[in-house]
Amino acid sequence: MDRPKSRPMVSRVIPVELFDLVVFGATGDLAQRKILPALLRRFVAGQVPEGSRLIGAARSEHSVAEYRAFAEAALAEHAAGVGTAEQRKAFIETLDYVTVDATGAQGWPELATKLVAGRVRAFYFSVAPRLFGALAERLHKYGMASGDARIVVEKPFGRDLATAEALNRDLAQHFAERQIYRIDHYLGKETVQNLLALRFANLMFEPIWNAAHIDHVQITVAETVGLEGRVAFYDDAGALRDMVQNHMLQLLALVAMEPPGSFNATAVRDEKVKVLRALREMGTGKTVTGQYRAGAIGGKAVPGYDEELGKASNTETFVAIKAHVDNWRWKGVPFYLRTGKRLPQRVTEIMVQFRCVPHSIFAGKGATMQPNRLVIGIQPEENISLSLMSKVPGLDREGIRLRQVPLDISMPDAFVGQHRRIAYERLLLDLIEGDQTLFVRRDEVEAQWHWIDAIRAGWRAEGLAPKPYTSGSWGPSAAIALAERDGVSWHE
Ligand code: BG6
Repeated sequence: MDRPKSRPMVSRVIPVELFDLVVFGATGDLAQRKILPALLRRFVAGQVPEGSRLIGAARSEHSVAEYRAFAEAALAEHAAGVGTAEQRKAFIETLDYVTVDATGAQGWPELATKLVAGRVRAFYFSVAPRLFGALAERLHKYGMASGDARIVVEKPFGRDLATAEALNRDLAQHFAERQIYRIDHYLGKETVQNLLALRFANLMFEPIWNAAHIDHVQITVAETVGLEGRVAFYDDAGALRDMVQNHMLQLLALVAMEPPGSFNATAVRDEKVKVLRALREMGTGKTVTGQYRAGAIGGKAVPGYDEELGKASNTETFVAIKAHVDNWRWKGVPFYLRTGKRLPQRVTEIMVQFRCVPHSIFAGKGATMQPNRLVIGIQPEENISLSLMSKVPGLDREGIRLRQVPLDISMPDAFVGQHRRIAYERLLLDLIEGDQTLFVRRDEVEAQWHWIDAIRAGWRAEGLAPKPYTSGSWGPSAAIALAERDGVSWHE
């Protein structure tokens, strides 16, 4: 019998509530690459109700017509082919602009008069964190911080615990926690959310999702890109702050958390924060840092970090960590994390390595066993693959041969007709609808920094310098040794 082909999914598009979204930093990189394209896509899908507006706000003087032309150019570059010419034109007409001085008085009264009462009101702080406090204060001063107004803040949310706490305090002076949406765009990725479906909508995983059955977990976020022009920002941050503090710890929390009572902001975030607080503080022997040198990626020569930067630097562009979650469920289970720039391929994945079966009935027949492993591919491929032991077909006269075979789910094949969405589409809709489940809560961000600060303090105390690695390799050899010491190899 032919297996039925998966059918295209047809999802009903439900418009969100009427809204005014003010984007501070409206001429910046994020607005051009993510916010405008994401909103255009939802507009084209019919999810933005008529009358809703994106009001750009920035320091530079522009007329509304100029800002619209600017946005049009940004969309031509970052959202080419989305919608028809009429739809794009209609979207552009929803854009407004006000010149605003974040730390002065210019533009604020004008912005206040533009907002319409009775709509959802959201303010996107797509600006440097040092301006967060000033923006929050002015929104309050000029009467825009109504009880249901929402603010959105982006990373970097501080550079250590003290600065993150200070930012939280500044925002909390004028906005309640239920009004503050801290973005970690990894939470907007479809497969990241699917991790929760995999764990909590299936019966077979949760009973074995613990130290008794799991040997270790690996989380890899590998990138091929280098500095991408973000010279000053990146050199000040480094891979630990840029990727581990936020995205990787969020992935770890979702893998390790207890089942929440329901899929809502309080329940999910309560469970995540418990994991983050249970992370063991660790010594430097459990981390490896690296910095890329010149090399080749995909056959193309690329310069080293110091050449891109134009000077020597001690900033890490690679980090590997052996982490532990100190609680009953994860007792003794290492979580190996690694992330880096200029690695051989772009891949984000979570690998769960199960333990061996307690006894092999096939041992006497010469068969070797390998433990099961579950690989959750987040990008570029969205897939879930479970490796199972299977008998190699044959009459077995010379013994039984077993081999690992993958049980694969490719998301694009399983859900034909579903477009891949950029994380910001989902997050913007959740913002308008007031759903904070996929945004990071204050206590989470502080727990994340607490753990990261201890790692950095260890590096400082030992004067640890990043080890060089060739661009296009999987980082310094010490990263391989970190896992191999435990008899583990990185999944590649
Ligand atoms: C950002 C980091 O948060 O995430 C970048 O600042 C990184 O350095 C990016 O390149 C990776 O995001 P994505 O969605 O491409 O995996």
